[in-house]
Amino acid sequence: MTDRYAVLGNPIGHSKSPLIHGLFAQATGQDIAYTAIEVPLDAFNETVLAFRAGGGRGLNVTLPFKLQAFEIATDPSERARLAGAANCLKFDGERILADNFDGVGLVNDLRRNLGCPLAGKRVLLLGAGGATRGALLPIAAEGPALIAVANRTAGKAHALQRDFAAHAQLQSGGYDDLGGQRFDVVINATSAGLTQETLPLEASVFAPGAVAYDMVYGKGLTPFLQQARAAGVSRVADGVGMLIEQAAEAFAWWRGVRPETRAVIQQLTVPLA
Ligand code: ATR
Repeated sequence: MTDRYAVLGNPIGHSKSPLIHGLFAQATGQDIAYTAIEVPLDAFNETVLAFRAGGGRGLNVTLPFKLQAFEIATDPSERARLAGAANCLKFDGERILADNFDGVGLVNDLRRNLGCPLAGKRVLLLGAGGATRGALLPIAAEGPALIAVANRTAGKAHALQRDFAAHAQLQSGGYDDLGGQRFDVVINATSAGLTQETLPLEASVFAPGAVAYDMVYGKGLTPFLQQARAAGVSRVADGVGMLIEQAAEAFAWWRGVRPETRAVIQQLTVPLA
């Protein structure tokens, strides 16, 4: 029998998840149906429960419901708990298991697809919202030399530092506090680019040979990636690989089979310039 999965969000029309999971299912011979469901803003919980009641096996969850996905879970993973957000649910009888694969997707993309393992690296995360929260634990697990979080509102970066104190040593502050430091990997986890705004970054923040990574995907050279290019960075990437790697984690969690990602990344990559 065909097992049913879906991605929930609002809006959801842009979602690549049905395409990605369809390609994974084809490649691994798994019999699944995967759809996209636009959920009214006030109807997240009832939509999840109705999907489960109809025989659904699991869900991906995207904006703006990742916090609610965490809250509806009976069994959240530790990284979902620390992020306070989940992007994946799995139904097991009455239990609702939740995980957050965004961070591990990012780390896997950097290591496997971009040849940039984080061990020993100086890593700078820009932004202190949900995207950064989701990424911190998987980044820390790779053993970087330093993780710094810079945010427009410095207090939110400091709050992250406190929340993660038992799990990761972070440096936190505003953009001004970066003062002459250089980083090997600079990751944009802000939503500034969506409004074409640029971040107040010195060109010197990028160490020689640095990688600049924007979690946004499919938008070509974002303002942040343009800033990096102007600063002389040649290794720039958007978040398409992160999207597909987190999907692969979800697929493996649901189905017990790990799909190959490379061909799917090639198919979905939009040239940056
Ligand atoms: P997400 O879940 O995508 O991380 P979020 O929790 O709303 O979304 O966080 C958005 C992040 O982008 C925040 O770090 C925000 O900075 P503030 O905490 O100071 O609001 C950051 N951001 C959004 N627009 C920005 C801009 N124009 N310049 C700098 N940072 C910006």
